[in-house]
Formats: sequence, structure tokens, C-alpha cells
Amino acid sequence: MRIAMIGGGYVGLVSGACFAEFGLHVAVVETNPDRLSALREGRIPIYEPGLDVLVENNARAGRLTFGDDIAQAVAGAEAVFIAVGTPPRNGDGAADLQYVHAAARQIAQALTGYAVIVTKSTVPVGSSRRIAEIIRATRPDLDFDVASNPEFLREGSAIDDCMRPDRVIIGLDQKQPERARRAEAVMQRVYEPLKKIDAPLVFTGLETAELTKYASNSFLAMKISFINEMADLCEKLGANVQELACGMGMDERIGSRFLNPGPGYGGSCFPKDTLALSRIAQEAQSGCRLVETTVQVNEARKAAMAGRIIAACGGSVNNKTVAVLGLTFKPETDDMRESASIPILHRLAEAGARLQAYDPVGMDAAKPLLPPETTYCENALDAAQGADVLVVLTEWEQFRSISPEALAQRMQNKIIVDLRNIFDPAVMRASGFSYLSVGRP
Ligand code: NAD
Ligand code: UGA
Repeated sequence: MRIAMIGGGYVGLVSGACFAEFGLHVAVVETNPDRLSALREGRIPIYEPGLDVLVENNARAGRLTFGDDIAQAVAGAEAVFIAVGTPPRNGDGAADLQYVHAAARQIAQALTGYAVIVTKSTVPVGSSRRIAEIIRATRPDLDFDVASNPEFLREGSAIDDCMRPDRVIIGLDQKQPERARRAEAVMQRVYEPLKKIDAPLVFTGLETAELTKYASNSFLAMKISFINEMADLCEKLGANVQELACGMGMDERIGSRFLNPGPGYGGSCFPKDTLALSRIAQEAQSGCRLVETTVQVNEARKAAMAGRIIAACGGSVNNKTVAVLGLTFKPETDDMRESASIPILHRLAEAGARLQAYDPVGMDAAKPLLPPETTYCENALDAAQGADVLVVLTEWEQFRSISPEALAQRMQNKIIVDLRNIFDPAVMRASGFSYLSVGRP
């Protein structure tokens, strides 16, 4: 079976490579010349564990190709996936659909026979029907169907999420049952290999599939904001948020995942998708106060974190050296989009701090976004050299094993602000540190 993937970013590249691994022939179309030449030369333009081997194996087997010629890519394809970006539109938080609509027009011009046009990008409710209108207007003669197939992968564990998803949501135009059946047959074949591992395929209407994506991301964002507020409360009341999360998470109705407090969620999706869902609800004149509040709670949290660091240093970081461990919005990615490190480091720099930062893979992506005077270090211990305070912003696994003695030898003042709770408070205090974490006594 042949499919085409329009867009070779996180979603297009990872899901394209996973479909190829399932045995499909996948033609990825990428218009960014730097990304495309990297992919053609076998270089992976993003950091995602395991992706290099997966891409190399499938490209070598002839199942995965990269190009910018859409007509060549869609020739013989039974499904054409749209996996282009949907960034927030300037000003109002709604998703900017210009890339999706452009892709729809290009697909319409290029197709020569029947195909299902499948939206993988995260798009507002009504977008699949709009895509169908655009295709009909561009090519009134074309026989096609549309489907909505939102992607739920997480950066850092994207391959496993794609190969073993909790569920696959596929929205079809149920108002036209004949068409829906025809499109379903194609989508069943696309996802045939997942049936062997009992991954559920959930068929819904177009609108439900589109909304399920926003609802899922917003719910997870809300869960994180909830535990962050509980962490604040624990600090006030002398309780321990880690034990609280453990106790809550054992209730299967709540679940233990996504209950780690931190400096506020970031990344390319939760911030933009919570804003977009608020906007969708406003336009539908329906209440969405929990999500709107989540957005506000998270923004306030990111802004408040620098204040914690300044307070830990006795009220001023002017002319003090702050060692920063971790810059990316989460570990195992080089993605800096909406990372909490951005507002925190800018605020510290404004307050006169000297910043010495280290991130295992994110420093190149971080440089254009962080204060220009930031010093980038070779490793975590170099960042700690001469520091007045050490701040943990991203919970990279390698930071967990840093020895307190090695830190103590290098730091000028033994203060640690651990915003990801990676160290043991008792061990740190026994090593003479003034140690502050999140929601733990
Ligand atoms: P991205 O910006 O990394 O990648 C999009 C790619 O599409 C870019 O490389 C761009 O050059 C290319 N592109 C744009 N228009 C094109 C066209 N007409 N033809 C060919 N290529 C084109 O974006 P992403 O992170 O992969 O996200 C894509 C969509 O998936 C978004 O809607 C996002 O919300 C959603 N999503 C992202 C993730 C994630 O973890 N990043 C997870 C689930 C869903
Ligand atoms: C998230 C969702 O988890 C994916 O299901 C979804 O497909 C994706 O968005 C998307 O739509 O793009 P991702 O942004 O890669 O994936 O990363 P997450 O692991 O969800 O983390 C998001 C943010 O929440 C990070 O800043 C992380 O540090 C923070 N977080 C996460 C916490 O602060 N606490 C937690 O317990 C979990």
C-alpha cells in the first residue's frame, strides 16, 4: 500500500517512518530545503531517540522516500496525510490553518485518482469539512474522501507512542455513510498492523475526532496545572506533593501519570492547543472556563518561577552566578518551543544574574531564544563552577546521578532550586546544601 505524508516535521517524519516500518510505502513531502536536504542525506533534523535508525532502515529498504515533488509523492497513494504545522494565529490564539489549506490545494492539484485525504495536524473543529471544500473547489472532477486522524505522540517517546498507541482516533464523514465506509476501508488497511497488537481503532465523526485531540491535550494540561497548584498548597501546609500524587494516582480513575509538578508545562502543543480550544469554545458560545483558567495558571506559574530562584538567593541575583541544568521543555528532545526556561532565564538576566547553562541536546536551539549573555557549558559540572545557585529546569536522566560532593566542590554558595524534584532532599541537605524543590518539605 502506498501513502503520502505532507510535512516532514516531528509528526510527519516520525509517523511516516513508523508507517514504513509497518510495511507501507511512504513518500514524505517536505518544502523546507534545509530539512529536505538533511533527510535526503540521511541526517535527522530533530532529536528524537531511535528515529535515525528507523529512518535509515526504512529508507534503505525503499519504503521511505523524501522529496518536494507532491505529484510524484501522491501518485498511486491511497491515503494522503497532512502533517504540517498549525501554530497559534497572531493575536487571538486560534490555530493558523494557512499551511493546512495550502497543502489541501496542492494535494488537489496533484492527485490523479481516488485517495483519502487524512488530517494528522491538530486542527479546529470543522477543518476537515473545510479541507473537503477547498479540494472540491480546486478540482471539481476529483473523487476523494476526507478523514481526521489526530496524532497523540509525545516528543522523546514518539516512536513507541506511534508503534504502540493507546488508541487511534479516525473521524469520518458519517453524514455520508457510503463515503464513510469507503474511507474506513482504506484507513483499516493503513492501520492493519496495529490490530495485531490490539491497539484500538476508534471510528467517530469528523467533528468528534478533531475535538478529541484538543480535549485530550487540554485535559492533560489541566492535570499538570492541578498538581502544580497542589504543590504550592503542600508547601504552605507542610505536606509532600510526591506522596500526595502517589496516593491520588493509585486510584485508577485518576491515574498516576502526568502528576509531576514542575515549572509549568511547555512545548509545541499544550500551550497552543489549550488556547485554541478556548477559542473554539468561545466561537461556539460554550463555556470552557477550566481550560481558560489552566492557561492562566500555567502562564502565572512560569512567570513566578524566577521569583522563587531570586528568593532562594536572599532576594537578589544581581551579579550572582546562576547555574542552569536543562533548557528544553522536557527531556529527550531538542525542542525549545514554549519552554519554561525562556521566561525564567530572561527574568533572571534582567535581575542582573550571570547565567551558566547546560543542556545535553538543546543548546543550539536555545541560543536564539535565551538572553544573549548566557554562557553555554560543556557539561553540568562546568555549569556549576563558581555558581551561587544551581537551578534544575529539565529532568534529563543524566542529572539525577550528579554527585552532591562534586557540586559542592565547584559551587561558591551551596543553594539548589530543583524545579523538577530530581534530587533527594535528605541527601542534598546532608551534603550541606540549602535545597528547595517543588511541593516537598
Ligand atoms: P513541524 O513544524 O515540526 O513540521 C511541519 C513541517 O511541515 C515543516 O517541516 C514544514 O516545512 C512542512 N510543511 C509545511 N507546509 C508544507 C507543504 N505544503 N508541503 C510540504 N511540507 C510542508 O510541526 P510538527 O511538530 O510536526 O506538528 C505538525 C502538526 O501536528 C501540528 O498541528 C501539531 O499540533 C501536531 N502535533 C504535533 C506533535 C508534536 O509532538 N510535535 C504531536 C501531535 C500532534
Ligand atoms: C503532548 C502530549 O502528551 C501528546 O499526547 C500530544 O500528542 C502532544 O502534546 C501534541 O499534541 O503535540 P509533548 O508536548 O511532546 O506531548 O510532551 P509531554 O510529555 O506531554 O509534556 C508537555 C509538558 O508538560 C512538558 O513541558 C512537561 O515538562 C510538562 N509535564 C508533563 C509536567 O510538568 N508534568 C507532568 O507530569 C507531565
